[in-house]
Amino acid sequence: MVMAPSSLNESSAEVELLSCPVCYEPLTRVGPPGLILQAICRSSFECKKCYKSYSSKKNYLDLTVTAGLKKYVEAKPIGTELFRSIIMSFIYEKGYRQCFKRYGFPGPDEEFKMAQDYFKSAEGGVLVDVSCGSGLFAIRFAKSGTYSGVVALDFSENMLLQCYDYLMRDPDTPLATDLVLVRADASRLPFTSCSVDAVHAGAALHCWPSPSNAVAEITRVLRSGGIFVGTTFLRSSPSWIFKPLNERILPSGNYFTEEEIEDLCTSCGLTNYTSKVEQSFIIFSAKKP
Ligand SMILES: C[S@@+](CC[C@H](N)C(=O)[O-])C[C@H]1O[C@@H](n2cnc3c(N)ncnc32)[C@H](O)[C@@H]1O
Repeated sequence: MVMAPSSLNESSAEVELLSCPVCYEPLTRVGPPGLILQAICRSSFECKKCYKSYSSKKNYLDLTVTAGLKKYVEAKPIGTELFRSIIMSFIYEKGYRQCFKRYGFPGPDEEFKMAQDYFKSAEGGVLVDVSCGSGLFAIRFAKSGTYSGVVALDFSENMLLQCYDYLMRDPDTPLATDLVLVRADASRLPFTSCSVDAVHAGAALHCWPSPSNAVAEITRVLRSGGIFVGTTFLRSSPSWIFKPLNERILPSGNYFTEEEIEDLCTSCGLTNYTSKVEQSFIIFSAKKP
């Protein structure tokens, strides 16, 4: 099984972390131990309940429900598919992400500092960067040394490969770093319930096919006292115009008001909601009670 190295709720004992995305049973692992990229890549995983097996492709572990399927192909909405292209993965940190500044995003260094402030109570625990993209925050979280393990998770194979490429080129992040790359759907997180100390989701909420399913999943995997921090673009147009469009015509255009984001978090059972806003940029945090 894959264990969370030193989750805060089980200070010395290790807790099971990776689970089957089909049935959420903890995965049985054959291979070297540890939440370390090289060890995970040399391991194979099996669910003892549904007998589905999982292994690493290139340098990420594929824990999607569709992992290993040969004939069945499933296309996701544009907010997911757009980022699976090799071109988007390549340009993401070379101009695309920089454009967010126009909408009030302070930039990765400042956004990382803001997130770290919210995550103080998760120090020494396991952090999952959901929809990590090319790893601009996951790599910073891992390099900070604040966490016992960091999971960089995304649905896009090419984003994960780009993240690996940046890791390889960075002399300060040896591959023995407690950082692993996992392919998964935000709506089907491959972690056992209550096993994660912190979840970060930068500029991601508006890209998810179902933000409510994703936030419900984030709530499920967080331990009691665990923190969720997210950023996204706010919608400012009146809801009587945008909501019908959002629901019927633009099903992938998941832009929300501040009140809607708070409502979403609290309806999933999260508490202590806080937020900071700058133009269309919002960073929000919420806690699992
Ligand atoms: C705008 S990028 C954000 C990347 C990075 N976190 C940042 O702050 O710049 C959105 C990311 O969400 C990912 N994504 C979209 N749909 C997803 C899904 N269903 N599950 C997991 N990740 C998804 C995309 O692959 C993409 O990497």
